[in-house]
Amino acid sequence: MSLPRLKVLVVDDSPEDRLLYRRLLGRTEHAAFELFEADSAAATHRQLDAHAVDCVLLDYQLPDATGVEILDDLVGEGATPPLPFVMLTGHGNEHVAVEAMKRGAQDYLVKGSLTAGSLERAILNAIEKVALHRELDRHRADLQRSNRELLRFASVVAHDLQNPLATVMTLLRALRRDLEDGRTGEAVLTRVDDVLGASSRMTELIRELLEFSRIGGAARQVQPVSMPDLLQEVADGLRALREADGGEVSWGSLPVVHGDPAQLRQVLQNLIGNGLKYRADAPPQVRVDCVEQQDAWRFTVSDNGAGIDPSEHQRVFDAFVRLPESAHLPGTGLGLAICKKVVEHHGGQIGVESRRGEGTTVWFTLPK
Ligand SMILES: Nc1ncnc2c1ncn2[C@@H]1O[C@H](COP(=O)(O)OP(=O)(O)OP(=O)(O)O)[C@@H](O)[C@H]1O
Ligand SMILES: [Mg+2]
Repeated sequence: MSLPRLKVLVVDDSPEDRLLYRRLLGRTEHAAFELFEADSAAATHRQLDAHAVDCVLLDYQLPDATGVEILDDLVGEGATPPLPFVMLTGHGNEHVAVEAMKRGAQDYLVKGSLTAGSLERAILNAIEKVALHRELDRHRADLQRSNRELLRFASVVAHDLQNPLATVMTLLRALRRDLEDGRTGEAVLTRVDDVLGASSRMTELIRELLEFSRIGGAARQVQPVSMPDLLQEVADGLRALREADGGEVSWGSLPVVHGDPAQLRQVLQNLIGNGLKYRADAPPQVRVDCVEQQDAWRFTVSDNGAGIDPSEHQRVFDAFVRLPESAHLPGTGLGLAICKKVVEHHGGQIGVESRRGEGTTVWFTLPK
């Protein structure tokens, strides 16, 4: 079995010591080491610029700086050091080691009692510690991001569920008055229908919210997805909407992509549904195309509808955003937010090109 190759920068001004490390690291069991050398702080910077090293062995005293000063300089302010450092100290100055550990070194060794085993172990441990640090940093950043999203989401949900609920309560109060007054028949039935209407809007909202929050949660079912087949299904599903309006959906040549078919269907359904729904005077026409880029497929869904003002292009991808001009049409404002989440979870990007009165093109990419 071949050993992992690791690049180590040895910073020491004594040629004999450097030779010693070279000899010791030539006899290791768990990794093969490629060594670079520096005999000063200035040479250290030059070597680090020239080579992507995995670890630095750092002597405590150099002609132009102490090891601790070099550490300070290289580690900077971040909580996670940019590189694993192992400090080399002399007998009797272990306080330097303590100082170095405080400033970001992962380990220290005392010169004079080094063995191939102890040197190798220190280097490998230092590399592993820094890798763990980075992993933790990534997790922390992920958590902070999802926490921010959740908070925003919760406040938006609370706000948007209030509206249909307030409608239901108003209607029920009116219904109570009707019944108190002894009214029956058509008027009362209409009230009941209104309550049912507002309640089903809430149900729809909750269903979409659930879908929205599920994306990115459970593992995606990634598999080859034939986009022409998916489009045919979506177009068939939207037949009622198309026929009522004289709308047409057409598409050019489309590839097979890698993705979650259920989520990609949602994307196409939302985008084509919007293209049909936010129409101008002419019968709605929606066209889906795809071009191949170096690393991705770029899809476009274009319509001849009402268009979106450029000042709204960012905002329409946020949850619950509906433009005032479409307030009279059904919808919860989650469609594009779902599309964005799905596309980004597939490693792609999404955006819109449009002006009021000039139709809309929503584009998205999926990695190949
Ligand atoms: N193709 C389009 N043409 C014009 N306006 C659009 C188009 N697509 C979206 N919009 C505008 O962006 C808003 C947000 O769209 P989105 O799809 O997120 O929500 P929705 O269609 O209102 O509701 P939902 O998709 O959840 O049923 C819409 O309300 C509409 O104002
Ligand atoms: Mg929509």
